[in-house]
Amino acid sequence: MSDCKTYYLTTPIYYVNDVPHIGHAYTTIIADTIARYSRLKGIDTFFLTGTDEHGQKIEEAARKRGKTPKEYADEISAKFKALWDEFEISYDKFIRTTDPEHIKGVQKAFLEMYKKGDIYKDYYEGHYCVSCESFVAPSQLVNDELCPDCGKPTRIIKEESYFFKLSKYQDQILKWLKEEKPILPESRANEVIRFVEEGLKDLSITRTSFEWGIKLPKEINDPKHVIYVWLDALFNYLTALGYGSEDESMIKKYWPAKLHIVGKDILKFHAVYWPAFLMSIGYELPKKIAAHGWWTRDGEKMSKSKGNVINPKEVADAYGIENFRYFMLREVPFGADGDFSEKALIDRINNDLGNDLGNLLNRIIGMAYKYFDGKVSSKDIEKYYSNELNEAREIIKNIEEKYLWKMQTHKFLEELWKILSIGNKAIDTYKPWELMKNNEEDKAMALIGLIANLLAMVAVYLHAVMPKTTSKISDALGFEINTKSFKAINEGKLLDDFVIKKIPPLFPKIEKPLMKKEEVKKEPENIITIDEFFKVELKVGEVVEAEEVKKSKKLLRLQVDLGEEKPRQIIAGIKEYYKPEELVGTQVCVVSNLKPAKLMGMMSEGMLLAAKDESGLSLIRPEKKKKTGTPIK
Ligand code: MSP
Repeated sequence: MSDCKTYYLTTPIYYVNDVPHIGHAYTTIIADTIARYSRLKGIDTFFLTGTDEHGQKIEEAARKRGKTPKEYADEISAKFKALWDEFEISYDKFIRTTDPEHIKGVQKAFLEMYKKGDIYKDYYEGHYCVSCESFVAPSQLVNDELCPDCGKPTRIIKEESYFFKLSKYQDQILKWLKEEKPILPESRANEVIRFVEEGLKDLSITRTSFEWGIKLPKEINDPKHVIYVWLDALFNYLTALGYGSEDESMIKKYWPAKLHIVGKDILKFHAVYWPAFLMSIGYELPKKIAAHGWWTRDGEKMSKSKGNVINPKEVADAYGIENFRYFMLREVPFGADGDFSEKALIDRINNDLGNDLGNLLNRIIGMAYKYFDGKVSSKDIEKYYSNELNEAREIIKNIEEKYLWKMQTHKFLEELWKILSIGNKAIDTYKPWELMKNNEEDKAMALIGLIANLLAMVAVYLHAVMPKTTSKISDALGFEINTKSFKAINEGKLLDDFVIKKIPPLFPKIEKPLMKKEEVKKEPENIITIDEFFKVELKVGEVVEAEEVKKSKKLLRLQVDLGEEKPRQIIAGIKEYYKPEELVGTQVCVVSNLKPAKLMGMMSEGMLLAAKDESGLSLIRPEKKKKTGTPIK
């Protein structure tokens, strides 16, 4: 990986059905770290992120909020972009699947596959999970109904659909998975291989029961279909480079992608469907697909209904973006699930960053000024401390291939911290204050030089994780972090002599949790969705006849005109508050799709809306006269 000329890496494109959370931030921060590292090495890097905006899930989310899908997508996509900008994510392109160039590219790919004979028209009947936007085979269902991935109920759909011949590519995909080993961590590969070995069924790739998606290419002329959102989304990795346009220079330069970073939940789409689509259009396959685990909060799965979803901005506002980046990359082994707790974050900041890194820097600033007016020299390090220096160089030698390109960011950081501990140990072992007392000034200066060089190594390698913090360190140590200094340090060169700068502590100790404690915003139990509300049909009606129900103290028998063939009979419990004659000719609001019921032997075919308090009952009526039968919305 380290000798490649270009490096193209991607995050998943995020669904715009909801605002960004810590899971999205995690994927993006890993990708940003790898991109920054690659650039620092001098590799021509292209880093893509963006938003996934079509599909049934978005259409429904928009409708619930009374917006058009595009309005809603614009709003949420802007939130993702604003967050990444605030986090100084170094993406080169932010793609949206509603971009006209993307739409064109997807249609071109569809047509290519169609012409190749890889797409045919049939009928899909089966389960669909709207939340995952995925077709679920009957054998995968949990309790015959639930989605195996998100646990939500699936819907049964029955519609005409175009299919992609996924089965045709089964052997080729298997071979690729086994021979090229593209999946990281490798331990995740088995589950994908097993999935393919169990047999791939052809994949439904168009939908007809909603509209929010890319239309089929006009050459196919079948306007009621829209392209399946996963096919649409996956092609973003190519359309972002100009696939579908005249200019293919970016594709030539950057394709195949060196790395797709994804969550474990969407690995199958990237490691099975995506390569099959690419094989069909005759493109090379991505080099690596790295799947990370899921974040929980204080040991619990995050969900909106529990009110425990972490907003990355709140964490960054309280603790600083770079500390947060460090925490996420250090806390969990890549691929495993991780838990977010403020305590764990504070411990990492106070211990790893404050004690191990910050204090070491403060200690040499202090000693350099106490003993040498801030001057630091590398002249005698090899003479007195070659063991320590070589130990650190050995760590640097392996750190990239073994850990960084394999996404093992926690190990990568653990290794860097070993260098810090060589430094901290050297101070405790050689005690510069005693060296000074014993007139061994050269040895004391060399010790300070050693520590400065160890800190320089750490700063350079940590730069991709904490760009600003490490620039402050390098500034104190009299050098700049760039490709040249990266190369020099990588080759084991030492810092030139310099005067160290005094800087304020980088990681002030955190004494107590800093995030505002949100009250857990639980949705009240009785909450209903707008869809549920619209199940109730309300209409304006006019009372055309009214009489008392003789044997009842409460009931009146009304005939109410709802603009239907004949008036409806409604038995209403309002006798104590209204006289029949004062009702006739007035308008009322009626629940018109209530199941008819018998009251005192008489059929009642609806219900009047009324409000009742201590002062009595009042019917709810339209403020101005409306046509009978007008729906109330
Ligand atoms: N739109 C698709 C991806 C299409 S890529 C061609 C999608 N979007 S998503 O917004 O639902 O998820 C994006 C990423 O966020 C996924 O990689 C997913 O794994 C990750 N996460 C969502 N919740 C997460 C956690 N709680 N923890 C860690 N990551 C999780 O899927």
